[in-house]
Amino acid sequence: TTTTPEIHRGLAGVVVDTTAISTVIQETNSLTYRGYAVQDLAAHCSFEEVAYLLWYGELPDTQQLHEFRARERALRPLDRTTAELLARLPETCHPMDVLRTAVSFFGSEDPTEDDGSTAANHAKSLALLAKLPVVAAADHRRRQGLAPIQPDPSLGYAENFFHMCFGALPSPEVVRCFEISLILYAEHSFNASTFTARVVTSTLSDLYSAVTAAIGALKGPLHGGANEAVMHMLNEIGDPQWAEKWLDEALADKRRIMGFGHRVYKHGDSRVPIMQEATDLLVTSADDADAARLAALHSALRHAMLSRKGIHPNLDYPAGLAYHLMGFDIPTFTPLFVMSRITGWTAHITEQLEHNSLIRPLGVYNGPGQRAVPAHAR
Ligand code: SDX
Repeated sequence: TTTTPEIHRGLAGVVVDTTAISTVIQETNSLTYRGYAVQDLAAHCSFEEVAYLLWYGELPDTQQLHEFRARERALRPLDRTTAELLARLPETCHPMDVLRTAVSFFGSEDPTEDDGSTAANHAKSLALLAKLPVVAAADHRRRQGLAPIQPDPSLGYAENFFHMCFGALPSPEVVRCFEISLILYAEHSFNASTFTARVVTSTLSDLYSAVTAAIGALKGPLHGGANEAVMHMLNEIGDPQWAEKWLDEALADKRRIMGFGHRVYKHGDSRVPIMQEATDLLVTSADDADAARLAALHSALRHAMLSRKGIHPNLDYPAGLAYHLMGFDIPTFTPLFVMSRITGWTAHITEQLEHNSLIRPLGVYNGPGQRAVPAHAR
């Protein structure tokens, strides 16, 4: 008798490769990018420096950062064809589909699409880092019935995004909170969308195909889409006093509470304390009743979930509230995740190519035994 091999559904707990990009140190529950703890990167670095670190393995020196920033700013503007294509997409087009379509279009326009060299892929990655915010901001304004605002090369990456969305800059605290969210969202080892990018890359397909596939994976509410679902949930509950009652009903209905739980972290997502602290700052600086109510509800739900299920929030939980408080509409939330995670995805694409092996797991068959085609079908 053949023994059925052990099946690891969802690849839970399955180690498939080595990676030098990031790791979660369980003992200290800290996430490090190329050896640097995200707490330190969030406290001392810009998002541009973290992008550089993920791609090149080291933090840039002053000269390297200056050149990197100049290249990123020069790459921001969309060409007219791309702008016209995106403007033609249906108004109801899901923002993640807008980004996915834009990346596909960039690939179709790139004559070096199939050049899989590290240098070529780093150049494509920087162009996507620079252009995705322009696409996301234009789509944000299109939903408000407003014309796009051109990127401003005199502004840093985070400030420029607010400029393109709102035509104005918020307080430095708000910009810094946004930048911290980008640093925290940038990379998280073999999560579903990053692994998707590695699978596509492992066939020696191109970077645009891998990123398009990763955007498709991130769109799902069990992964990136959770930050939007968190805000819908807070709006659905409304008042802090209903938090416990709402949660009891939701858990009784076996509903998944968005923004909670994690496949890897079982004692709390190491990124949450930093994001929560930045969000708390937003609430105090917002100084309005609505922000205070949402913060109270956010806290009540978190405590209720911890006491009832012992399940901790993940990064999407504070991030969803923070993005609302920054003035972004909910459909923009997951595109913000893409703008950040493009750095981790492309770092993994390059790493996969450096020591590639086609990714092709097995399944154990449980269908009908072998049988002959019946006479009447011949
Ligand atoms: C991200 O992988 C990454 O690194 C992802 C990410 C990244 O940076 O790339 O961190 C970003 O995607 C964060 C996760 C965002 N997703 C959500 O917030 C959606 C809600 N979360 C759940 O769907 C869930 O927690 C997962 C999918 C995130 C992880 O689930 P697992 O590891 O597959 O665990 P499970 O679904 O098997 O749940 C284990 C138990 C179950 O109880 P039982 O059915 O065994 O009784 O815990 C329960 C689950 O019901 N549970 C939850 C829950 N999460 C787990 N119950 C209610 N609400 C939840 N959110």
